[in-house]
Amino acid sequence: MDAAEGKRRAAAAALAEVQAGMRLGIGTGSTAEAFIHLLAVRVRDEGLRVVGVPTSERTAALCRDLGVPLTTLDELPELDLTIDGADEIDGALRLVKGGGGALLREKIVAASSARMIVIADGSKTVEALGAFPLPIEINPFGAVATRLQIEKAASRLGLNGPLALRRRDDRPFVTDGGHHILDASFGRIPDPEALSASLHAVPGVVEHGLFIGMATAAVIARGEDIEVRGAL
Ligand code: 5RP
Repeated sequence: MDAAEGKRRAAAAALAEVQAGMRLGIGTGSTAEAFIHLLAVRVRDEGLRVVGVPTSERTAALCRDLGVPLTTLDELPELDLTIDGADEIDGALRLVKGGGGALLREKIVAASSARMIVIADGSKTVEALGAFPLPIEINPFGAVATRLQIEKAASRLGLNGPLALRRRDDRPFVTDGGHHILDASFGRIPDPEALSASLHAVPGVVEHGLFIGMATAAVIARGEDIEVRGAL
């Protein structure tokens, strides 16, 4: 089974958790988009009544195209369930996210949700986080100083990999919030909680892609099987 089919199957399994009347956080990325397509079919064909808060402009545009009703977090600050993808998932349901550049809104929406289900194909599970470069969203002001402070903070934890400014079309990538992203190739992250705290202590860091204590369950497609971690 290819990754795209695994993403679709994980999305379909998570869709079973969506019930009428739910206030949903809707993630970003190809796996989240597989979920949005399936959700839209239920909205259209079954008249399923839900309302979603999108985690990116890209997700908002797709939801609008497919007829999934949307609102904002300001209108609906408490959500029942967020469904989103991830770049890495470890055995403690800690995640690396932000490969699609939406980590800040994704984290705000997940933190506003009673539950967060992560959907993924089997390639996303890891023994230890860090093979996927960790996205760190920074304010463009003082970016050189911020980078230096991140390097020093990480180095104190024994993490010395390079930081790459994410680019698109030969320009720095700009997030929906107007920030830049440094992709940090630290390698294996032995203590994600300590790294999270160290990064949050750098003033120019807006947010980082370590999601710790946020996912309540993961639905992972492995071949023909669906593995569920945590409590659905
Ligand atoms: C976007 C994300 C995505 O959920 C993550 O990058 C996974 O993407 P995909 O489902 O395309 O593999 O965090 O910011």
